[in-house]
Amino acid sequence: NDCNLTPVRVASPASNATVELADIDWDNLGFGLNPADYMFIMKCSQDENFSKGKLQRFGNIELSPSAGVLNYGQGLFEGLKAYRKHDGKILLFRPEENALRLRTGAERMCMPSPTVEQFVEAVKVTVLANRRWVPPPGKGSLYIRPLLMGSGAVLGLAPAPEYTFVIYVSPVGNYFKEGLAPINLVVETETHRATPGGTGGVKTIGNYAAVLKAQSIAKAKGYSDVLYLDSIHKRYLEEVSSCNVFVVKGNVISTPAIKGTILPGITRKSIIDVASSQGFQVEERLVTVDELLAADEVFCTGTAVVVSPVGSITYLGKRVSYGSDGVGHVSQQLYSALTSLQMGLTEDKMGWTVEL
Ligand code: COI
Repeated sequence: NDCNLTPVRVASPASNATVELADIDWDNLGFGLNPADYMFIMKCSQDENFSKGKLQRFGNIELSPSAGVLNYGQGLFEGLKAYRKHDGKILLFRPEENALRLRTGAERMCMPSPTVEQFVEAVKVTVLANRRWVPPPGKGSLYIRPLLMGSGAVLGLAPAPEYTFVIYVSPVGNYFKEGLAPINLVVETETHRATPGGTGGVKTIGNYAAVLKAQSIAKAKGYSDVLYLDSIHKRYLEEVSSCNVFVVKGNVISTPAIKGTILPGITRKSIIDVASSQGFQVEERLVTVDELLAADEVFCTGTAVVVSPVGSITYLGKRVSYGSDGVGHVSQQLYSALTSLQMGLTEDKMGWTVEL
């Protein structure tokens, strides 16, 4: 393929020289792993703090079969993105928010965690080392995946004696196969993602394993993903497997409040601020499935999904469509406002972006 043989060159912020981009098909990035050059690794024991990490070539990591993460799920992950601007500079979006969320999750999962400064520095170092994998402007982003895990060996149920913090990256495009077109969700009525007092509010790996079955069944029926309800009343919205949900009615935008069973999304939080600054009335509260079905527009937010419009919801076999399957104008407006900021196309009055 000619396209792959021709090196793409982009401006480099460090000098007037150009950086040769990785040799991949930038026009057809989906949300899959394209392994980059380096990953960051930092370890510490149970009664220590993380001190110094290092970059190494991306590759497999070695774990004891008895590692805490493999046996008892003692693990957390994060997700954030880097975008390349037209001037060659790279922008991170609110990395300190991911650092803080990882620290909250680590507390819940009985793990030591990097400081906010260590986390942000490690993200910067990893992105810069892999700069040739940051897509050209308009072609996607570099997805950054920090992991924190109990890597030490245990047999009886206990916190692992050693912890490993890893960051790897991959260039990505759109999350859903629909691209930017509206997705079709089905409300799950059999299983639940989280329950009060559980771990639904932290980004622990088990929360994502727990939704795979319902997601696979839904996908086999042609849906894009599953929307979960609360486990007690079975009528309040929680979230989709990999993202938060918003419901639009007139000038009011509502989203389920964070009460321990919902992941506190950084895109969720950012969209609440962006929508409020644009004059919408934003409400974080209990949102019923009836309100969902009566909405003018529905959209999902997440680092991976960005702002994804919802074209239809199916609940107990009944399908409701929004805006004749087109992208609703509120979803479109908020998507544009957020991504322009993330890509450095509009002035960042919020102070959310970090330039590398
Ligand atoms: C993200 O949006 O970054 C996530 O962590 C969701 C993941 C399932 C892709």
